[in-house]
Amino acid sequence: MNKKIKKIIKKKNKSKIVSLTAYSKNIAKILDKYCDIVLVGDSLANVLYGFKNTHQITLRNMILHAASVKRGIKKSLMVVDMPKNSYISSSKALKNAKLIMSQTRCDAVKIESNKKNYFIIKKLVDSKIPVMGHIGFTPQFKKKFKIQGDTSAKTKQLIKEAISIEKAGAFSIVLECITPQSSKAITKKLKIPTIGIGSSKYCDGQILVTDDMIGLSGFYPKFVKKYLNLTRLIEKAVKKYTTDVKLKKFPDTKYFLNGR
Ligand code: KIV
Repeated sequence: MNKKIKKIIKKKNKSKIVSLTAYSKNIAKILDKYCDIVLVGDSLANVLYGFKNTHQITLRNMILHAASVKRGIKKSLMVVDMPKNSYISSSKALKNAKLIMSQTRCDAVKIESNKKNYFIIKKLVDSKIPVMGHIGFTPQFKKKFKIQGDTSAKTKQLIKEAISIEKAGAFSIVLECITPQSSKAITKKLKIPTIGIGSSKYCDGQILVTDDMIGLSGFYPKFVKKYLNLTRLIEKAVKKYTTDVKLKKFPDTKYFLNGR
């Protein structure tokens, strides 16, 4: 097993796993210093491409962005989302996962659960491709953004789903928008680490979409803590630049290439 993956699994019940998303090299380079996991999420679709959902992002888009991210990564575990429809059969999943792994040199792929595709995870893991699972709110399969696991029957279902993913060989699992009670129960039940997004402090680690936590995406559900308002900072810089250009303050001689 990949050393980085072993390290992530060992963190369970010891120290929290820190994860964020990246879609390009410069951000990845910053995250790499602090994060255990950098995910090239298919949230790329909404965040960077401005699509309504994640469905339109292609395998090619994911590979190009992941290859850029890889250029900024030295130490963290890099996971790449398999986009919708890229794993609809086990042969298609294997072909596409191999393509992602070879063209981006990432460490693992992530697959969203539709409660039926455990055999896909098994197929990839048997072929030595590490897989991260994803349950709860799974944007590739669920339309309505809402809390998951809010009844005991739904909690039971989520636990069952998580166990099936672990049995299929996944090395970790994202829990998205799952109630604290359910995520606590799932985390306790599994041997592999759980990474929560909007799923409480009981998970073994946390992930957020970087553009959300730095205040750039414009999408701030309740579970997002905004650590920075980058939109405001960029606006300030652009405003200043606009004024400078209009008032002929920029470029002054300091910025002339021949010094005059
Ligand atoms: O696509 C993504 O960024 C994700 C995270 C929200 C976990 O799947």
